[in-house]
Amino acid sequence: MSKGSHKGLGFGTRAVHAGVSPEPITGAIMTPIFQTSTYVQPAVGEPKGGSYDYGRTANPTREALEANFAALENGVQGVAFASGLAAIEAIVKRLSAGDHVISEENTYGGTTRMFNHVLSRFGIEFSFVDTRDLDAISAALRPSTKLIHVETPTNPMMRICDIPAIAELAHSAGALLSVDNTFASPYNQNPLDLGADFTVHSSTKYINGHSDVIGGLLAVRDQELGDELMFIRKSSGAVPGPMDCWLTLRGTKTLHLRMRQHNANGLAIARYLEAHPAVDRVFYPGLASHPQHDLAVKQMRGFTGMVSVDVGTLERAKALTEHLQLFALAESLGGVESLISVPALMTHGSVPEDRREAMGITPGLVRLSVGIEDEADLIDDLARVLG
Ligand SMILES: Cc1ncc(COP(=O)(O)O)c(C=O)c1O
Repeated sequence: MSKGSHKGLGFGTRAVHAGVSPEPITGAIMTPIFQTSTYVQPAVGEPKGGSYDYGRTANPTREALEANFAALENGVQGVAFASGLAAIEAIVKRLSAGDHVISEENTYGGTTRMFNHVLSRFGIEFSFVDTRDLDAISAALRPSTKLIHVETPTNPMMRICDIPAIAELAHSAGALLSVDNTFASPYNQNPLDLGADFTVHSSTKYINGHSDVIGGLLAVRDQELGDELMFIRKSSGAVPGPMDCWLTLRGTKTLHLRMRQHNANGLAIARYLEAHPAVDRVFYPGLASHPQHDLAVKQMRGFTGMVSVDVGTLERAKALTEHLQLFALAESLGGVESLISVPALMTHGSVPEDRREAMGITPGLVRLSVGIEDEADLIDDLARVLG
């Protein structure tokens, strides 16, 4: 299906068809894996298709994935990267020394680490703010603020950031807004439609969905920004391999089906755990008890399979990780299989302890990535261990 012709089609139809068309030589219905580093040119300076000169610059498998993803995020351009962090890094690489970024304080720990320990060394300044609080964002704005970067829901506290309100704040200050949409997935939330300038994903997670690829994707609704990001990627080199693009494109075709099951299982498990006496607190935006439930309902269509739970102590958190049979102890999320992790010791180990504790990432906090298994089996597994 050619670029743009998917307009008006439903999410599932776009997931299956957008960006892909039969291969012209054989009619192969599946986009081939163009596993090549270079292309033979008919004449000097005249690469085929105008751009097929070298694999870092252009690759048809990658382009199919990018067009498919852009259609799912209602963007004009998708840009694929070798990892989610590379995609976020590319957004910040638009900036120069002296520019300022306001970041949500409760992002994935690796994002905070990259901002603090890598990009800040190039003279870009970062402020970390609770972006639920619009006044705190306003107070952190400087004349040099060029970007606000949020994650919503956040990892792992499931905070919700008000995308339209933050977009307005950013734009009135002459800054852009990027939203890490990894936790929500494009099935549940489209930041570009809500006013964001960039939507960015660790496609390692829900988008690919099968725990077999590390990748990143971003989309924009302004072609000029898209061209700029393509230039940054070409110049910096963090391209994904063709095989990984192909696997991810296979993943996006079932994103709608997987997300429906993740959403249903996540809600059922959050409700079950909320009612369980061994659980102190459940963080899940789909629960009416979530302090930002109304905002979540306003900007999301579903609430995913990510459920964080405070069980009080590290010992109890560890007991869960040791005795559950269907939740594997592992970092990452968004795959078809259920996972469990202890963020304070795993994904957020690089965040200073005092900041972790202040955000609620206690040693007793457990993060569940609820997969697409049968809901009854997952609940039985939890019941067996929690008692
Ligand atoms: C919300 C979020 N954003 C970004 C990343 C980084 O993505 P990647 O591991 O693909 O580099 C992660 C990784 O866990 C994440 O959870």
